[in-house]
Amino acid sequence: MTTDLDINAYLKRHENKDMLRFLTAGSVDDGKSTLIGRLLYDAKMIYEDQLQALKKDSKTHGTVDGEFDPALLTDGLKAEREQGITIDVAYRYFSTTKRSFIICDAPGHEQYTRNMATGASHCDLAIILIDAHNGVMPQTKRHSFICGLLGIKHLVVAVNKMDAVGYDEEVFLKIRNDYESFAAKLDVPDIHFIPISALKGDNIVDGGDNMPWSKSEPLLSYLENIQIASDRNLIDLRFPVQYVNRCRGFRGYCGSIASGVIRKGDNLTVLPSGQSAKIKSIVTFDGEHEEAFAPQAVTVTVDGELDISRGSMLSRPNNVPEVGSRFDANLVWMSEKPLHEHDRLLLKANTQTMPLTVDAIQYRFDINNLHRLDTDSLEVNDIGRIAITTHRPLIFDTFARNRRTGAFILIDPSSSATVAAGMILEQTRQTHFDKTSGMEPVSKNIFWEKTEVTPESREKLLGHRSATIWLTGLSGSGKSTIAKALESRLAVMGINAFVLDGDNVRHGLNRDLGFSAEDRTENIRRISEVAKLFNDAGMLVITSFISPFRADREEARQVIGDKFCEVFVKTDIAICMERDPKGLYRKAKDGKISNFTGIDSPYEEPVEPELALDTTTLSVEESVSAIITVLQNNHICR
Ligand code: ADX
Repeated sequence: MTTDLDINAYLKRHENKDMLRFLTAGSVDDGKSTLIGRLLYDAKMIYEDQLQALKKDSKTHGTVDGEFDPALLTDGLKAEREQGITIDVAYRYFSTTKRSFIICDAPGHEQYTRNMATGASHCDLAIILIDAHNGVMPQTKRHSFICGLLGIKHLVVAVNKMDAVGYDEEVFLKIRNDYESFAAKLDVPDIHFIPISALKGDNIVDGGDNMPWSKSEPLLSYLENIQIASDRNLIDLRFPVQYVNRCRGFRGYCGSIASGVIRKGDNLTVLPSGQSAKIKSIVTFDGEHEEAFAPQAVTVTVDGELDISRGSMLSRPNNVPEVGSRFDANLVWMSEKPLHEHDRLLLKANTQTMPLTVDAIQYRFDINNLHRLDTDSLEVNDIGRIAITTHRPLIFDTFARNRRTGAFILIDPSSSATVAAGMILEQTRQTHFDKTSGMEPVSKNIFWEKTEVTPESREKLLGHRSATIWLTGLSGSGKSTIAKALESRLAVMGINAFVLDGDNVRHGLNRDLGFSAEDRTENIRRISEVAKLFNDAGMLVITSFISPFRADREEARQVIGDKFCEVFVKTDIAICMERDPKGLYRKAKDGKISNFTGIDSPYEEPVEPELALDTTTLSVEESVSAIITVLQNNHICR
């Protein structure tokens, strides 16, 4: 028996042994650290030198008066030792002759629900610890519910501190009853109850003599013997491509297999292109393989030149995932900033990242009884059901079908923080708006035609590379003035540049659009596509649009790719109002026009633009020079 702190070495050594990943969850002081410490200690899964240090520590920090305190084994985090609370998810690795284990030790405090949700998403089983004194607590219910939501199929309810209640069977049965009446509403097929004392070691590794009435085998042998193989999805092959490795003629697609098995010679379908592929080889760091299966990380090569990039998904021709933009999903909201309807965020699922809009918050759960409560926002730690629209098609499965490809996280684009964990329930119907705004091509059976003239030959022809300089800022900030001056300066340098300006484009291509949030999104979407086409044609594009929404600009970045260069024309609104070149601020203030940016419609400043220009201090010429320097630094022009 061993412990090991290096996960990679550990996984490698135990790769062929059956592995169980389990989560430990409990309220504050339920004895979680003691339980884990006891498991490791009684099963002799710690090194002697660690033990010596711990014995010393127990004297200074232990909470059991000089006696050896197993909790100190796991309370590895310094802050936790000093404050007496657990503050992060900690992973521990150990193995017995039968099985290898990864323990995901999630903290008990409500404010750390997010860590628990993160840990749970990778676990096969969860131990829900209950203090025999306290019985079923709100946190017990919250944790059990989250485990069920995140697809954990096995719960072990460990009623701890039985020594402190005289090993009384009645206490255990009462807790078991209480839990069962709540658990009837959980979506968990297998729940097992064990009475234990982590401190004294009853029913952990050995049964002991104190609870002859207990019908359960000890915790460790239960964990060693439980069948979990059938929970793993080995049927639906899903291989999300994370990275394309191009090196001296070699072209390999790298990623972790999300589910299923992949074999040499297999015929596959590539999404989103719909092309067919045949697997030529499967490679890992230790050579070529005939087959590989989830969750292995592999590189595959395929026959032929195919359109495969980060975010593509490989699957079998007769078993492909769904592709769509509108879903209902369960969400664990983790941010202090509440979620509201119409919020725009970034969705990350497997290797895909894209902006989304929250269309509706349908309800939130009352954790105590799992009733659905009406709401139009989700507060921190709330769990609810929402309807969302992604701004590009997502390749996915429902969570019920596939825990990997049915899960996602949400990111707040302003802070880059992860703010939610989500599970896709079902795809919902397209509305008329989706069709006209083209989230997905309305036509089916369309294929991408490649032309013979390559981007490289266009660059040679024109003598410079293409790019999109995306100017964003308030009306009156100086975008159009800078755009025009930049276009002229570039023309003198022999560079083929073209300005796409908000007011101009709204005379033609976008004459059907107004200034509602939806119309602005559509405005920016069309401009991104046009800019991309201009870039493909080898031209340098300068766009001059307020483009007030971060998510829309992020989407433009996705569409245009690494040619996108965001320039924030940063001018105080008071100065824009003073300049008021078109008299529109005045009109907006007088209520003659509505939805005016900065007055009654928001402007979301860029967080990390490639360049910010403060036009209150910089002249037009200085602003233009600053942009040209960025272009030169990026070898777009000389
Ligand atoms: S965006 O928000 O969709 O990016 P865009 O840059 O195309 O806006 O158009 C902004 C221009 O439209 C402004 O410079 C201004 O001249 C004009 N305009 C007319 N009404 C409005 C409004 N309600 N809000 C902002 N700009 C408006």
